[in-house]
Amino acid sequence: MSPVPPAQDLCPSDALAESGKAHVFDLLEYGKPVRGFVLRFEGRVVGYLNRCAHVPTELDWKEGEFLDGPREWIICSIHGATYDPRTGYCVAGPCAGRSLKPLQVQERDGRVYWYPREDLAPAFCD
Ligand code: FES
Repeated sequence: MSPVPPAQDLCPSDALAESGKAHVFDLLEYGKPVRGFVLRFEGRVVGYLNRCAHVPTELDWKEGEFLDGPREWIICSIHGATYDPRTGYCVAGPCAGRSLKPLQVQERDGRVYWYPREDLAPAFCD
């Protein structure tokens, strides 16, 4: 088994405005290409796989645009599943009760980092 790669530097903290556009990035889930995103909500950076719990498709209607008009919920652009940005839990829509797959993220020293794990690896290694 190969060691889990170290934390990945995704973007500067100030690239994520409060309830703003997300930073979207490529990664591998069990070796298959997927995308993830991080956004700032209520001051905290959260991260999830960019994959709806209803049909495995990307959520954003335009790259990095995940939140609804009032900037309160993550909305799937396909059939409108509504997720709580704090937890990734789907509160309404065709997959209510399911959740987005969370990513372990941390903000420190003005940067946002993602921590790979055994199932989720960087798409590109330095
Ligand atoms: S694919 Fe997201 S709600 Fe159907």
